[in-house]
Amino acid sequence: MRNLRYPFPVPSELSKLPSLDRYRRIVFFTGAGLSAESGIPTYRGAGGLWAQYRYEDYACQRAFDRDPRAVWDFHDKRRAAVAACSPNDGHRVIAEVQRRGPETVVITQNIDGLHQRAAVSGGGPIVELHGSLWRVRCDRCKTVRQDESVPMSPRTCACGAFLRPDIVWFEDPLDGRTIRRATDALEACDLLVSVGTSAVVYPAAELPRIAMSRGVPTVEVNLEDTPMTPLYAVTLRGKASEVLRTMAGATTPAP
Ligand code: OAD
Repeated sequence: MRNLRYPFPVPSELSKLPSLDRYRRIVFFTGAGLSAESGIPTYRGAGGLWAQYRYEDYACQRAFDRDPRAVWDFHDKRRAAVAACSPNDGHRVIAEVQRRGPETVVITQNIDGLHQRAAVSGGGPIVELHGSLWRVRCDRCKTVRQDESVPMSPRTCACGAFLRPDIVWFEDPLDGRTIRRATDALEACDLLVSVGTSAVVYPAAELPRIAMSRGVPTVEVNLEDTPMTPLYAVTLRGKASEVLRTMAGATTPAP
């Protein structure tokens, strides 16, 4: 059960796909490739954000301390771009699986909020490893709040300090409680489906190893191979939305 290509050359390959309906505690581990079809550029590769911008200038605490206005201008541009995009079928398939199976957990490296926008009322747990473009925080008075204004305004907190995006920038540590939630889900899952991540940013990239070490079925959905590909039981090459739609369609109806 490995390296199935989408579209599948022979229909019988469909039957080799893990049937999502058979699993109760699926973890979807997602990255920028899932949102690419919504029109949000990925980070790496041709057209990627980090080919256009230096993270040292816009996405680290040092840049913010040096020039918070330039860092906010960059994030305001991203907020405007993301606000103009909508969830795609990939997000919707995951939301539907989560609606049917409330123990399904989404662990995402994405900061765009599209999983939440696709979620059917109530939704299930969404663990945002790298924070959210739509949350701001004050590191002086420790305020954290949702903020969906575009451009973000005001940029200063009531205490007078600059607010910053509540995002895990380069060189920032991940939040301990968030890592714990992700780890707990991976220690309990019965299927791991990774979607659209290059698997090069640590510590996020190594989290799937928790599920792998437990011997649960693991699936990687991506346009191309990643450094983690050899560790997955099944690798599906194709667009996230199409492969996920196919996986959902391949599920066997409940008796
Ligand atoms: P990357 O940009 O590094 O990788 C995107 C992956 O998605 C690549 O492996 C592509 O092959 C794949 N891909 C692109 N389009 C796809 C599609 N339509 N269907 C399936 N796969 C597709 O993005 P991430 O792995 O998410 O950090 O990057 C990890 C972190 O690096 C991000 O969370 C971000 C960045 O710096 C923060 O924002 C803090």
